[in-house]
Amino acid sequence: MHGMTLGHARARYLSAIGAVLPPLAIAACRDATPPASTIASDPTSTATPSATPSASAAEPPITASATPSASAAEPQRPIPMKFPPCPSGKFCVAEPAKLTGKPAPEPFAKCAVTTNHPDDAADAGSRAANRFVNFSPDDTKMEREKDKTACCYTWGLRCPGGRAFRDATGTPAVARTTARADWTAGLGALAVDRLSPEERASLAAHWTREAAFEHASIASFAQLTLDLMSVGAPPELLSAAQCAAIDEVEHARIAFALAAAYGGEAVGPAPLAASPGAHRTLADIARTTFIDACVGESVASATLADDARKTDDPVLRELLSGMAEDEERHAELAWRIVAWTLRVGGEDVARTVADARDAVVEELVALTHGDAISASDALRATVLREVVLPCAVALVAAQAPPAPPSRARLGFNA
Ligand SMILES: [Fe+2]
Ligand SMILES: [Fe+2]
Repeated sequence: MHGMTLGHARARYLSAIGAVLPPLAIAACRDATPPASTIASDPTSTATPSATPSASAAEPPITASATPSASAAEPQRPIPMKFPPCPSGKFCVAEPAKLTGKPAPEPFAKCAVTTNHPDDAADAGSRAANRFVNFSPDDTKMEREKDKTACCYTWGLRCPGGRAFRDATGTPAVARTTARADWTAGLGALAVDRLSPEERASLAAHWTREAAFEHASIASFAQLTLDLMSVGAPPELLSAAQCAAIDEVEHARIAFALAAAYGGEAVGPAPLAASPGAHRTLADIARTTFIDACVGESVASATLADDARKTDDPVLRELLSGMAEDEERHAELAWRIVAWTLRVGGEDVARTVADARDAVVEELVALTHGDAISASDALRATVLREVVLPCAVALVAAQAPPAPPSRARLGFNA
């Protein structure tokens, strides 16, 4: 990740914290980016070019934060105040009568290297389409002390990279995907022919998941609009939220088109169970905006920009760069929203933001603790350290008197 890119994002968000958005018309959504000359120089910048790798386009292996838990039903919470973990777990099934797909490594070659989760058939749609399942030799070995035909797997639900739409339990909710062509954006000629069938399948699966989350982000911005209206937000924030929702429609269309191009089959969203959530207070809005957008969309923007820099496909590079710019604008909006909640809110909002700042520090410690760190975690840590934390510190510092850190932990999944 280029330090200069992160420095630009940090300067933009710091500027937004103290800025007032000009009124935006829906027709001008795509022109909503402030001209570069309005972005203040960043006096705090210490960024240097970094060799931090970005997330791979292929599905990452299960990382420390998604290690199988004892119970598949319970999301892990490795440390207090960590941002919402994505659900993960493990399960065991009997060896299939006839193996389909790739076999697991010996001595477990009668097990498939991946399979469907037993709950997938009955799943309401928020998980199955996006669950990744990997064979687990260690769990299988242990289970075979009781059952000689067991095949055990770990599973995880990939955390969304952009703005999540959360169901009533706080779990990121997405629609199932289905065969349909009306969500396919027109793309240029992608360099698909030189890819192996395995690479194409991996990229198709990756972009199907990404498309489902981009599609859910539309609902997230619709929810944000309702939340902002319920607390009397100014029109410029509502207008920007509406524009961002339109961006997410386009992101979903692009991602579904990429999935179709790599997979050779049209794919689009099934219906999403997107009923409005409960009433949210200013502090709730500050908290969810901070997690899902100040953090989530900053990371999404940096990931897309990094992937754009690394690809040698010019068509893909342009698509990724455009989406990265949109996500950066969405993150900027998020910082403006949190700054607004601080201006009009009371002590509870100030305390929420101070706790969010502390949560960033705690997550940074957790992410960088230990020997192995995945590429996606490394990039997330870089963005937290170089972009999110300085902005969070600036937000808290702008308050008078400063809010003391609260040890009454926030329910970030609420
Ligand atoms: Fe997006
Ligand atoms: Fe976004």
